[in-house]
Order: sequence, then structure tokens, then C-alpha cells
Amino acid sequence: MSQQLRARRSNLAVPGSSPKMLEKAKGLPADQVFMDIEDAVAPLAKPDARKNIVAALNEGGYEGKTRVVRVNDWTTQWTYADVIEVVEGAGANLDCIMLPKVQTADQIVALDLLLTQLEKSNGLEVGRIGIEAQIENAKGLINIDAIAQASPRVETLIFGPADFMASINMKSLVVGEQPPGYDVGDAYHYILMRILMAARAYDKQAIDGPYLAIKDLDGYRRVAGRSAALGFDGKWVLHPDQVAAANEVFSPRQDDYDHSEMILDAYDYFTSAAGGAKGAVMLGDEMIDEASRKMALVVSAKGRAAGMKRTTTFTAPEA
Ligand code: GLV
Ligand code: MG
Repeated sequence: MSQQLRARRSNLAVPGSSPKMLEKAKGLPADQVFMDIEDAVAPLAKPDARKNIVAALNEGGYEGKTRVVRVNDWTTQWTYADVIEVVEGAGANLDCIMLPKVQTADQIVALDLLLTQLEKSNGLEVGRIGIEAQIENAKGLINIDAIAQASPRVETLIFGPADFMASINMKSLVVGEQPPGYDVGDAYHYILMRILMAARAYDKQAIDGPYLAIKDLDGYRRVAGRSAALGFDGKWVLHPDQVAAANEVFSPRQDDYDHSEMILDAYDYFTSAAGGAKGAVMLGDEMIDEASRKMALVVSAKGRAAGMKRTTTFTAPEA
């Protein structure tokens, strides 16, 4: 479970074909960097991308970030070689493999088995490398519960809007364009909620995918704000300018964080013998009970994971 506490507000996509961008990613304040060998890399450039990624991971400089490599999906001819080359070359310096276009639980099991053999044969701790599963088509969404449970390595369920919209024949909804009279938010709502339900049911992180209009920061904030409001843990960033927006949108606001820590302290005190062993009490103007504590735990966990510091303290009332 400890793996799932990794901060993943901003998940920076970096094409493995670009040593320059792999280098630049080191200095950006993204929680996660994922180095791509899939759709951002042309087929002819994939062999070099594997090599660039191994070199970058081993060279280091990504301290404090979750280090992920996106391999090609199992319907291609590349997956096995992507995984073998990256894990044999840099397994000790890698946190997760991202598997795109996951359609069935078997595809997670296949990756899990391959990772286990690679860990054993390379003297790595078995089970340490996690899996991030991208849900990018109807079949993947229908099978999401089985996918989430297919291996304890699965840490995240990720929405891939571009591939998803293509797979279900949806028209022009990715970059904010929308058919007249239709609210794009409605189109995404079911998919986002389905992914979120599976993530919460099986203790995974729910991650929203890319926003392709990289110059439209307001649009990014709007779309990120939607998945953050639902309960998602983070979103992809395709451009350095999107990093700060993601970190902000997926962190609690300072006053919400302070309030949550306050609820936890107050509830702890009031339910104790010293505080009168009460189950429902007033904190200022607000009635708090066990459910308030649970809501506060969520916000506090996000704030703590983001390194926030509280600015208020709880003082027990004079007896
Ligand atoms: C991401 O991979 C997407 O297809 O949106
Ligand atoms: Mg995709």
C-alpha cells in the first residue's frame, strides 16, 4: 500500500526519443515523469528511445519524482523488448512501467510475470516495480475492475482521452472543441466516474490524461479542475507550463488543508475520555462527526503528500 501514497498531481510526459527533453524534465517540479516509448515516439525511433531512457534513468537527477516508462501495448510487436531492455538496463532506477491501451486483466498478468522474471534474473527486489494501467478503449473500461485487481503491482488507473475518444467514435471532444448544444463535460463524466469508482474500490490512484491544447492554460485548469473535483489524484502534463497548474489544482487549498487538520485534532480530542467521549461535536459553527473525520483524512492525506504545512493549531477548551 505504501507505493500508492506517491504524489502524482502532475505526471509529465517526455518522449524517450528526445535526450534534450529527458534532461530538461529533471529540473521541472513535476511529481512524476514518464518517459515514453509509445505514441509520442515514431516506430523507427523506438530502439533509440529505449537506449536514451536507460541512459537517463541510470544517470539520475530525477530525485523526488516517480520515475515511469511507458512501453508499447501488447497488441504491437514491441512490448516485450521495451520491458526487457528498460528493466535489464535500468530496473534499479525505475519505479513503474506504464502499460497503455489495457483491455483485459490478462495483459496486466502478462506484464507482471515478465517483470517478476526480470527482477529475479537481475537481482532486483521482486514486486517493487509497479504498473500504471491506461484505460483507453471501451473494452478496457468494461473490464476495469478485473484490470485493477489483476496484480498487486497496479498503482494507478489512467484515463487516456485521445485514444478513448477515437476508440468509441466520439467526435472532436479532446481539445475543448464541442458539437453545438452539447456539453463536453457530460461526455466525459461517465468514463471519469467509472475509472474513479474502480480506483477507490481497489485502492488505486485515479489519474486524468492529457490536455492537448498546450497553449490554453485556462482550458487546462478547467479540465483538471473537473477531475480534481470528482476526486482524481492527478493529471498528465505535456508542457512545462502545465506543471504548476496541475500541482495547484490537485493540492488542497491552504484553508481546506488547515481545516482538515483541525477537524482531525478536534475529533481526536472530543472522542477521547479527556474530551468527554463525544461522537458529534461543534467545531466553530460546524457539526463534526465520524464522517467529517473521514472527509478530513482525504484532504489531509493529499496535503501531506504535497508537502503542505498547516498554519493553525487546535487548542482543547479549558475544562
Ligand atoms: C493518452 O495516451 C491518450 O490517448 O489520451
Ligand atoms: Mg493513448
